[in-house]
Parts: sequence; C-alpha cells; structure tokens
Amino acid sequence: MIEPFVHSVRNPVSVRPSTEEDVPDMVAIYTFHITRGLEGPYVDPHALEEIKKRRKTMLKRRLPHLVADLDGKVVGYAFAVPFRKRPAYRYTVKHSIYVHHDHINMGIGRMMIDALVDACAAAGYRQMIGYIDGANVASLQLHEAAGFRQVARLPSVGFKYGKWTDSVMMQRALGLGDSAPPDEPTGRMIGREDDPPV
Ligand SMILES: CC(C)(COP(=O)(O)OP(=O)(O)OC[C@H]1O[C@@H](n2cnc3c(N)ncnc32)[C@H](O)[C@@H]1OP(=O)(O)O)[C@@H](O)C(=O)NCCC(=O)NCCS
Repeated sequence: MIEPFVHSVRNPVSVRPSTEEDVPDMVAIYTFHITRGLEGPYVDPHALEEIKKRRKTMLKRRLPHLVADLDGKVVGYAFAVPFRKRPAYRYTVKHSIYVHHDHINMGIGRMMIDALVDACAAAGYRQMIGYIDGANVASLQLHEAAGFRQVARLPSVGFKYGKWTDSVMMQRALGLGDSAPPDEPTGRMIGREDDPPV
C-alpha cells in the first residue's frame, strides 16, 4: 500500500494516492489536454474505462498513482507504468503527469513529480523516464527542474496539428540509481513472468 504524501507548498494542495472516485476528474483533465493541448488532438472514447483499469493494474504492481487534491477537488494526476514488460527492465518506470488547465503554473506539477519520484524510489525502482513533446516547454522545464536530463530526442516521430513533432526522452536516477545492484523486491514488482499485459 502506498502511503499518502503531503508535499508543501506554494498552494494548499496535497498529493495523495488516487481513489476510484477520483477517476472521473482525472478523465476530465486528460480529455481537455488530449483534445486541446500539445498532447492532442485526439479523442479517446474509452478514457474512463482505460484510466480505471490502468489505476488498478498499477496499484497491484506497487506503482504509484497519485492525485493533487485542492480542497477535495482533483487538480492533477500523475502515475508510473513499467518502462518495458520484459523482466530485465523491472527497475525502470516511465510516467505521465497532467495538471488541470485552470491550475497550471501554481507549483502543482512540481509537487506531483517530486512525490512520484519519491514514491517510485521508495518502491525500489532505479530509473524513471518521461517522453515529452519537443514543443512542450512547460513539461521540459518542469522535468529539468525535477532532476531529469534529456537523454534522447526522437525526431519527427509524431504528426500533430499538420506538422511533424519530436519526442524528447528525459531520464533521472532514483535512489541509488546504477551505483549499486537493485534490492531484492520486498513486494510485487513489475516485469514478472506471470504479469498480465499493461
Ligand atoms: C507540464 C505541466 C504538468 C506543468 O505543471 P505545472 O503545475 O503548470 O508546473 P509548475 O507550476 O509546478 O512549474 C514547475 C516548473 O516547471 C517549469 N514550468 C512550468 N510551466 C512552465 C511554462 N509555461 N514555461 C516554462 N517553464 C514552465 C518551471 O521550471 C517551473 O518552475 P518555476 O515556477 O520555479 O520556474 C502542466 O503544464 C500540464 O499539465 N500540461 C498539460 C499536460 C502535459 O503536457 N503533461 C506532460 C506530458 S509529458
């Protein structure tokens, strides 16, 4: 079970593990960004079921699925998934983060990324990777500020709003990183032979 986090604060927001009741708010945040923002344009009619399912799968794998909570309202969410399914990659995660469009630039993204990094490190993961649109200055800067470094730029892998877009891969070490072998997993880690597909 992932413990609640309260990261402090340029604002009265707390970051905590998501609950099933938070899913509709997460869908609303996600839908806005994929239909109107740099993540889109895209319509996902299955977002509700997908987010519900992913949330349950990730919790089963001891991967954090967090929300930012402002007076009981979900104003952002962030989660980590396995980087790759094969067991060799079981200590590496990739992540996603979304802040409600009415609440950007208030420090919420930073709170959530810090909480996600802490939660993944505490769960024994050693590397964390984000794929970011090359034009998404806010996300690139946020990740840079949170200790991620650009490790690759994949040119012209996306096509959005009538033009080709790059994807930037940003990575940071968690905990001891590659300076020591991984701890033996204490709980259920990703990448076991019997894992269902993500
Ligand atoms: C990217 C996103 C998560 C940032 O969240 P946020 O809550 O607005 O960011 P914060 O206010 O916590 O800012 C933290 C740092 O990020 C950087 N940053 C955030 N917005 C920025 C912007 N518009 N331009 C440049 N840097 C920015 C700054 O370094 C900032 O630190 P500072 O305020 O001390 O300068 C948010 O804009 C978002 O949800 N965007 C749409 C979805 C998305 O693109 N998700 C990421 C997919 S990879």
